[in-house]
Amino acid sequence: MSLYFPPSLRVDFEPRLGGQSTWQDHAAFGYDLVAAKAPRLLVELGSQRGFSFGVFCQSARTHSLDCTCYAVDTWAGDEHTGSYGEEIYDKLASHIREYYRHYAYLLRMTFDEAVGQFSDGSIDLLHIDGLHTYEAVSHDFHTWYPRVAAGGVILFHDIAERQGDFGVWKLWEELQQQHPCFTFKHGHGLGVLRKPGGVELADEPQLIQLLFGGSAEDRQTVAEMYSIAGQFLKNRRQARKFREGREQAIKRKMTGQA
Ligand SMILES: C[S@@+](CC[C@H](N)C(=O)[O-])C[C@H]1O[C@@H](n2cnc3c(N)ncnc32)[C@H](O)[C@@H]1O
Repeated sequence: MSLYFPPSLRVDFEPRLGGQSTWQDHAAFGYDLVAAKAPRLLVELGSQRGFSFGVFCQSARTHSLDCTCYAVDTWAGDEHTGSYGEEIYDKLASHIREYYRHYAYLLRMTFDEAVGQFSDGSIDLLHIDGLHTYEAVSHDFHTWYPRVAAGGVILFHDIAERQGDFGVWKLWEELQQQHPCFTFKHGHGLGVLRKPGGVELADEPQLIQLLFGGSAEDRQTVAEMYSIAGQFLKNRRQARKFREGREQAIKRKMTGQA
């Protein structure tokens, strides 16, 4: 593979906004994709605690990109997440205010309500992570596709999840027949689709070229690298939690609180 040294490895990237999310496996890739693609307009459909959105915003700020980020969610939950409390929204809103004021915005509404706020061909990076039934994700994809710029990238989370009525995998199987696509199978799976048109692939940044024009070996290497990166971030976080727990236990013991 032509030498690719991702920003996430160069700076020893760590997500600033922690918290529980099945998106953790893809944090390093999300960070590098934003750095590579340098989107001017990024939209996420489905944010909940904002893990993936936080990663995108962090990369946009760290790389001083001229990028505006929107997260769309009712912050009420859906059939798969279940309903959740106001504190989820409040915590994310205060994180965004603290670190990404004037760069990132939360649109608290349904995806269908939000789509009218964006013009056709305007979105450079779209992340679809709402309700994961086949019907819902197909609807989200077809409704938002015209808003994506030629050469823009669309991410689909949970393409490898087959439990219950999850159906992103089914849409992903169909889309792969019709569009340039790259599949990450690790974690719950992440699909990366490039909308045809726009700049020639040869003029795209190296990561995009590897994803959509690399040899089978290059693509395999990229998939493995980001699987390892995801595992590394998870392990490091677990090790830190474990260490903090031990330190607190020792403190309690020393102060006689045990
Ligand atoms: C899987 S979670 C998002 C996870 C998030 N991307 C992360 O990094 O952890 C899905 C979210 O989509 C929202 N959602 C689902 N369908 C929606 C719709 N049609 N309009 C607005 N929000 C929706 C839910 O409220 C929920 O918070």
